[in-house]
Amino acid sequence: MVFAADRDGDPASGGSGPPGTSLPGMARSIMSMVLVCYLFIGLIAIYAGRPSGLDFAVEAFFVGGVIAMQYLHSSSNAALWTRRRRIWSLGTQGLCVFLPLILFDQRWGGGAGFLAGSCLLLFSGRGAWALSVVPTALVLFSSLYARVAWEMTLGYMGCAFLTGLVVYGMSRLSNMVAEVHSAREEMARMAVMKERLRIASDLHDLLGYSLSAIVLKGELTRRLIDDNPERALAEIRSVLEISRQALSDIRTVAQGYRDMSLVAEAASAQALLAAAGIEAAVSIKIGALPRAQDTILASALREGVTNMLRHGDVRACEISAVQEGGAVRLEMVNDGLREPAGAAVPARTGIGLESIERRVSSVGGSVSTSITEDGRFHLVVTVLLDRAGRGRAFLAAAGRNVTGSTVDPRGRR
Ligand SMILES: Nc1ncnc2c1ncn2[C@@H]1O[C@H](COP(=O)(O)OP(=O)(O)OP(=O)(O)O)[C@@H](O)[C@H]1O
Ligand SMILES: [Mg+2]
Repeated sequence: MVFAADRDGDPASGGSGPPGTSLPGMARSIMSMVLVCYLFIGLIAIYAGRPSGLDFAVEAFFVGGVIAMQYLHSSSNAALWTRRRRIWSLGTQGLCVFLPLILFDQRWGGGAGFLAGSCLLLFSGRGAWALSVVPTALVLFSSLYARVAWEMTLGYMGCAFLTGLVVYGMSRLSNMVAEVHSAREEMARMAVMKERLRIASDLHDLLGYSLSAIVLKGELTRRLIDDNPERALAEIRSVLEISRQALSDIRTVAQGYRDMSLVAEAASAQALLAAAGIEAAVSIKIGALPRAQDTILASALREGVTNMLRHGDVRACEISAVQEGGAVRLEMVNDGLREPAGAAVPARTGIGLESIERRVSSVGGSVSTSITEDGRFHLVVTVLLDRAGRGRAFLAAAGRNVTGSTVDPRGRR
């Protein structure tokens, strides 16, 4: 019998229950024990009337039916059943409650209580509360009709009311324990996924750039080693420096923090592009930036440069950053596209620009890529310095949204 959403069978995950028992499991067990006790009380009540063996068997069958239906109604899935199924199920339980009354004049307050509790569990809102009064009212009318002593009638009604409350309360609590438990597990899963994503993005940004630089400088060294050994030696030194930096970057990824500076990255990118024989016009006109924004822009610059080295036969590029209206706008334009002139921006297959977009949206801003009229690749990253402040007006004026990316005129982001 399933009372709760927790079906993953992790017995140790409940926390504060007895060793080896999960809290949802414990709540389910208590609920089951309560129902078994009610079954026992119902059977005793029947036996007290000294029925014949056959009558006892039939009445016990109905009491068992009431309890079995209650198991179903107390499960967390019951509220998700179709309306039709809920009505049928409630009707079946109603028959099990009232048929013994009609056939054997067997009164058992608990039965009507289960029916009331089921009304509250299967339906919601005021209608459910109104419906839950009906079984108790039926107990009252049938007792008046059979001229049962008023003390007994009150006893039956009290018993029905109490049973309804106990069943409803216990079932809801049991289900809530399971819901809280599974929400906690979901949150833990989300935290792990988020961390994995962060590590993947950080590794991609840092190592993608460093390894591209190492490959490029390695190639350069191989070409220079015979004709210009001094320059080759200088490049090897630079490869060593980049490798050391990459090693320390990996450590900072593992530690979970990493601050980068757009100005420093731009200087390093300029040197790298020069080594690659790419003519780079770099112009960074920004003041002091908040750490988060500075790091995001520096990562974007790294990804942009890595992409230039990987995806084109670039000969010239322009990199500029300006701060205006509460936002910083980083633009990177390069020639040497492999796509024919007039082609749309290629479909994204990697995670580079996507990860930049995710970082940018965390502080507010936009990322857009397009191919210019003269066939150059154009990347624009705009980052708000004050998410709630003036940057919005700047983006609005530039026709960009605040948390997502712009869509370029050719239909690609
Ligand atoms: N500077 C650029 N010049 C030419 N094409 C580019 C440039 N930047 C990006 N692109 C194109 O946009 C695509 C998406 O770039 P993105 O950085 O998201 O992925 P990737 O570089 O292919 O893979 P990854 O970054 O995961 O290693 C690239 O595959 C490429 O076709
Ligand atoms: Mg890339």
